[in-house]
Amino acid sequence: MSRVALISGTTGQDGSYLSEFLLDKGYTVHGIKRRSSSFNTERIDRVDVHPRDGEARLFLHYSDLSDPASLSALIRDIRPDEIYNLGAQSHVRVSFDIPAYTADVTGLGALRMLEAARAADVDCRFYQASSSEMFGSAPPPQREQTPFHPRSPYACAKVYAYWTAVNHRESWDMFCANGILFNHESPRRGENFVTRKITRAVARIEAGIQDKLYLGNLDAVRDWGYAPEYVEAMWLALQQDTPDDYVVATGEGHTVREFVEAAFDRVGLDWQRYVEIDPRYFRPAEVDALIGDYTRARRRLGWAPKTLFGDLVRIMVDADRQLLEDERMGRLVRVDR
Ligand code: NAP
Ligand code: GDD
Repeated sequence: MSRVALISGTTGQDGSYLSEFLLDKGYTVHGIKRRSSSFNTERIDRVDVHPRDGEARLFLHYSDLSDPASLSALIRDIRPDEIYNLGAQSHVRVSFDIPAYTADVTGLGALRMLEAARAADVDCRFYQASSSEMFGSAPPPQREQTPFHPRSPYACAKVYAYWTAVNHRESWDMFCANGILFNHESPRRGENFVTRKITRAVARIEAGIQDKLYLGNLDAVRDWGYAPEYVEAMWLALQQDTPDDYVVATGEGHTVREFVEAAFDRVGLDWQRYVEIDPRYFRPAEVDALIGDYTRARRRLGWAPKTLFGDLVRIMVDADRQLLEDERMGRLVRVDR
């Protein structure tokens, strides 16, 4: 019998890579998709074999982290061995505009998933997608013992979800693990996160269809890794004898400015001719520097990053150039998105 996983946030960057990873391991994967007025399954369509196909091992279900009844029904019916709670309103800047919604989905959503699993009385392991944003203004390097100092409604919601997972571990003896993941990117990254915004703009500027790239704070330091490698750490966290919490990072910090420079360099352009600062992209409170110490993940999970900054920039710029080329040629867009 294949193992069964339930993923919230299947249609997002990480959910799509995790689905592929688990399918490759022989799992049956159930994913939550939410109702939208436009298609929102683009990242997962490549593996979404139609359920009527006898080979299908990926099943998408309408549900929502704000809807406890549907979550309960899903978990009761599917009886997963592993639950990965990746669903979230995940944009930090946007969380300042919609703080209550962010708290509801990103924070309380984790509680609803955990309580649905508890109520269904299924013997399952639970992964919570925690974030380096929880460290906020705590100086780097940040590790599991570093005190949290969240600097946004998103980060506050993630701190709540983190402690809720720990509390379910301690109160109800559930196998709950937090992955405290530092920023991780890929060609499937949402277009309004800074790395993808930059690589997409570089491709468009090179092609002559965009003039300028407007950005906010270029001095922020982030520890950027490669998303397909980070989903393996999620899975590893649930394969241990005892549950724990793990920082997953590269240990390298770079400024947004360095990312911009490297991305424009890749196509031989001088970034200073194209980039302008737009204060609209500044945040009411900024997280200045995130650099993770992933010693625990390395020692206990045997996990280490392989793709570092230079390669990540190259992969993302090249993918956006290819994507543009495919669109212009009217080719079926099958670039890694
Ligand atoms: P993402 O691309 O923004 O994906 C978020 C997913 O959550 C999408 O599938 C989205 O659905 C879904 N979602 C949003 N609201 C929902 C709701 N009300 N009910 C159910 N699902 C909902 O994020 P990601 O980069 O893959 O990140 C995955 C998780 O890791 C998130 O929890 C994020 O906060 C956390 N995280 C990310 C990073 C990072 O650097 N990427 C680092 C640390 C932690 P739609 O597709 O319909 O929008
Ligand atoms: N989005 C964005 N857009 N960010 C900009 C821009 C811009 O135009 N200009 C500068 N930045 C700066 C932000 O101020 C921030 O310091 C940095 O670039 C990274 O911003 P994002 O790419 O939006 O990511 P984030 O670090 O705020 O949050 C991401 O990583 C977290 C883990 O640390 C998200 O994926 C979160 O969901 C995740 O938890």
